[in-house]
Amino acid sequence: MAESIYPVPQQWAEGALIDAAGYQTMYRRSVEDPEGFWGEAAQRLDWIRPFTRVKDTSFDEADFGIAWFSDGTLNISANALDRHLAERGDTVAILWEADDPAEPHRAITYRELHADVCRFANLLKAQGIGRGDRVTLYLPMVPEAAVAMLACARIGAIHSIVFAGFSPDALAGRIRDCDSRIVLTADEGLRGGKRIPLKANVDAALTHCIGVERVIMLRRTGADVPMVEGRDIDWAEAANQSADCAPAEMNAEDPLFILYTSGSTGKPKGVLHTTGGYAVWTAMTHEYVFDYRPGQIYWCAADIGWVTGHSYVVYGPLMNGATSVMFEGVPNWPDPSRFWQVVDKFKVEIFYGAPTALRALMREGDDWVAKTDRSSLRLLGSVGEPINPEAWSWYHRVVGEGRCPIVDTWWQTETGGAMITPLPGATPLKPGSATKPFFGVQPALLDTDGKEIEGAGDGCLVIKDSWPGQMRTVWGDHDRFFQTYFTTFKGVYFTGDGCRRDEDGYYWITGRIDDVINVSGHRMGTAEIESALVAHHKVAEAAVVGMPHDIKGQGIYAFVTTNAEVTPDAALRAELIKWVRQEIGPIATPDVIQFAPALPKTRSGKIMRRILRKIGENDVGNLGDTSTLADPSVVDHLLANRPHLT
Ligand code: WTA
Repeated sequence: MAESIYPVPQQWAEGALIDAAGYQTMYRRSVEDPEGFWGEAAQRLDWIRPFTRVKDTSFDEADFGIAWFSDGTLNISANALDRHLAERGDTVAILWEADDPAEPHRAITYRELHADVCRFANLLKAQGIGRGDRVTLYLPMVPEAAVAMLACARIGAIHSIVFAGFSPDALAGRIRDCDSRIVLTADEGLRGGKRIPLKANVDAALTHCIGVERVIMLRRTGADVPMVEGRDIDWAEAANQSADCAPAEMNAEDPLFILYTSGSTGKPKGVLHTTGGYAVWTAMTHEYVFDYRPGQIYWCAADIGWVTGHSYVVYGPLMNGATSVMFEGVPNWPDPSRFWQVVDKFKVEIFYGAPTALRALMREGDDWVAKTDRSSLRLLGSVGEPINPEAWSWYHRVVGEGRCPIVDTWWQTETGGAMITPLPGATPLKPGSATKPFFGVQPALLDTDGKEIEGAGDGCLVIKDSWPGQMRTVWGDHDRFFQTYFTTFKGVYFTGDGCRRDEDGYYWITGRIDDVINVSGHRMGTAEIESALVAHHKVAEAAVVGMPHDIKGQGIYAFVTTNAEVTPDAALRAELIKWVRQEIGPIATPDVIQFAPALPKTRSGKIMRRILRKIGENDVGNLGDTSTLADPSVVDHLLANRPHLT
């Protein structure tokens, strides 16, 4: 089938902030003169003390280091709030829609948000929290979550948000890793009509975290939950605090937040972002990628538990004075029209969502979309995983009625914000391609020997030079940061993604090439799921790989060897599924568990994951070289007993 190209619509070519020629000129300058380009770009922020240095970065081992605007000082909450007060204090900053459509929405102006943030910042201070202290957030999608993030930023505390779908164990690990003394949570969360026992999960987690002295609990549902005397306090106490809290003067390189993400090895990494570069990157990408103008209603449907929520629900939009829609619920409850009803209710102009949700909605049929109006929509966005051309076309044709460009943005927790992305007024679109690099981003494709591929080709995606939004370290383990991202290939940042570049210089992300899988846009390390399985007393060994999944993008395929005395049966399968959900959370639920008397290993005892991946992908025609296997019959057994074929 011939590849379709969607040219930039006329009105976008004429009216957008950046057109095709503008993109060329600005991109060239951004890579030829990064000092000049970023020195100017950073003027979009209010600095307390202006910087004189712009870029101090090296990816080489000898002088490795990443610093941007490093002698400047600023406060990101002041940039997101205070500086809008004079001109647009009464503009709505957060437009919140509850899980249940019957519950009234909330519209919080910049002035109100500023006051709420100051009060909560003062409440944190009253608990002895200040500069550099870590604060763990385990909260539902409510405006108070944004308030808490900005309050931390205001006083220089470092927030660490843990997605509210994670289990008590996963939460405990993340609290301990960064030594938080305080946890912010709610009595319960609400999603799709279901209650999530957040406070109970925190209580369970804290039995393993002796360092936590304080829990501040928001009453979301009013459930009757026990409070621990001397430790737990009510969020409502913030109301008694002063609405005046001067923003702390932070160095551009002071930490802003930690966000745990999965890598190819063992435990999740605490990705650390700092203040100045992240602020410049998220504000600038938000403005240009979404062609954002003040006054427009913008909705990013991501949860604040993931980086997309950090950068494009809270920081980016608020720094640009946007009205940012925040949604507590799910796309298909009470019915599959929910997203588009919210679009109509608030007259949303820009909608940014994940392919997995689109695929799920697509399956429900067009009527759920068609019966809503959506005439307010001008631009659509996609993030988190590759969007297959079929879902892209449905999004374009049915949701956007052919009139809205789609910005398919490729980026990562580590990159802070969008890296390879169309600009709606500049980039002709190809369904399934994230298109071209954003300003300052220098992608390259390397073959497995590290040789750069010129022109069209397929390889490992690396980024050749630093950009302001780049992560700065892994919390508590700078060596792991260097080892993970800068040693596979010397002198460049390794993304972990495979990628193809076509004749037009368009980038097509082909997915992870390490042991990370992307399930419903949630990133998961296969090693984490394996260690959860192996922790079960009946399991001897486990190997986890991805498998294609119509809705989730990738599903989780686990090969499990049980202890000798155990009979693997359906009951054990159910037990293991429940176990993994408890250990990590429902997002890690295995789709397939295949019991096997043994796993394929090399003679030196290494599991041959390549073979397991092929079985997971149902691509068993050519398993490649199996001659190094200690016992080739193991593979025959696996092939003969694949559960998804029976
Ligand atoms: C994948 C989410 C294709 C990719 C912002 C990356 C994508 C990982 C896209 C990061 C996209 C993200 N097209 N793949 N538009 N966006 N990915 O850290 O594999 O949760 O490495 O950040 O998601 O996931 P993370």
